[in-house]
Amino acid sequence: MVKVINFDDVRYVRGGRAILNGINWTVDSSQRWVILGPNGAGKSTMLKIAGVSDYPTSGTVDVLGERLGRVDIFELRTAIGIVTRAHERRIPLDETVFNVVLTAAYSVAGRWHEQYDELDEKRAHRVLAEWHLTDLAERTFGTLSDGERKRVMLARAVMTDPELLLLDEPAANIDLGGREQLLQMLSGFAKSPDSPAMIMVTHHVEEIPPGFTHMLLLGRDGKPKAQGAISEVLTSENLSAAFGVELKISSESDRYFAVAAA
Ligand SMILES: Nc1ncnc2c1ncn2[C@@H]1O[C@H](COP(=O)(O)OP(=O)(O)OP(=O)(O)O)[C@@H](O)[C@H]1O
Ligand SMILES: [Mg+2]
Repeated sequence: MVKVINFDDVRYVRGGRAILNGINWTVDSSQRWVILGPNGAGKSTMLKIAGVSDYPTSGTVDVLGERLGRVDIFELRTAIGIVTRAHERRIPLDETVFNVVLTAAYSVAGRWHEQYDELDEKRAHRVLAEWHLTDLAERTFGTLSDGERKRVMLARAVMTDPELLLLDEPAANIDLGGREQLLQMLSGFAKSPDSPAMIMVTHHVEEIPPGFTHMLLLGRDGKPKAQGAISEVLTSENLSAAFGVELKISSESDRYFAVAAA
C-alpha cells in the first residue's frame, strides 16, 4: 500500500481561530475516505490542503510522497483530480461537454489553440462513456442540469488519470434521482481497484457511496472526533458528538441514514 496523504499535527489558524486543530491523518492508495462534519468544521479547508492549494499554519503535510512547502506544487497538482464548486464555476458556459473533459489534459478550463493528440481525444471519449455522458458530449456546459454538470466535472477530474481524487460535496444541489445516479457511479468507481485514492467531503451520511472504506468525523472545533473504518466510526454516539445534536444512525444495504434521536 502506498501512502498518499499524511497530515502530522496539522493546525490551520485564521482570524485568531484554529479552524483545524491537531489533525493526524493518513490515507493509503487503496482507501476511499469520507470527511463528515457540520458547517464550518473545516472540511473544505482539509481538502484544500490535501489538494495543495493551501498550507497549514503548523504541522507537516505530505501529499503523494512530497512534503508541502518543499515541492513544486504545480507539478504535484497534475496528479490530483479535484471536484469543487469553485472549479465548476471556472468552466466557460459556452464550452462543449467534450471540450470540458478534453481540456483537463492541459489543465485549462476552456479550449483555445491547444493541439490535442488522438490519444487524448480517445481517452476523453472513453471517460465520457464511463460517466454516461456520451449523449451530452456536444451540448454546452451552460445547458446542463446541476447533476449533469457534476458528472462532467468528475469526468474532467479523472481524465488525467490522477493518483488522488478529491470531491467536495459532489451531491449538493442535486435532486433525489440525480443524487442516487451519481452515488451509484461514485460507488462503482470507488469499488474499482484501478481507481485512485478518493476523499469525499459531505454533511450527509445518506451521501456516502458504498465502496467508501474510511471516515474522518470532524467536530465544530476543527478536531477529529473519530477516524478509521466507516463501520467503526459511524456510530450514533460519534455522530451526535460531531454535530452537537442527539442523532441516531441506521444502515441498510451499505447505505447510512441519520435522524434526530427520539
Ligand atoms: N481565510 C479565512 N479567514 C477566516 N476564516 C476562514 C478562512 N478560511 C476559512 N475560514 C473559516 O473556517 C471555517 C471552516 O471553513 P471550511 O470551509 O473549511 O468549512 P466546511 O467544513 O467546509 O463547511 P461547510 O460544510 O459549510 O462547507 C469556517 O468558519 C470559515 O468561515
Ligand atoms: Mg465546505
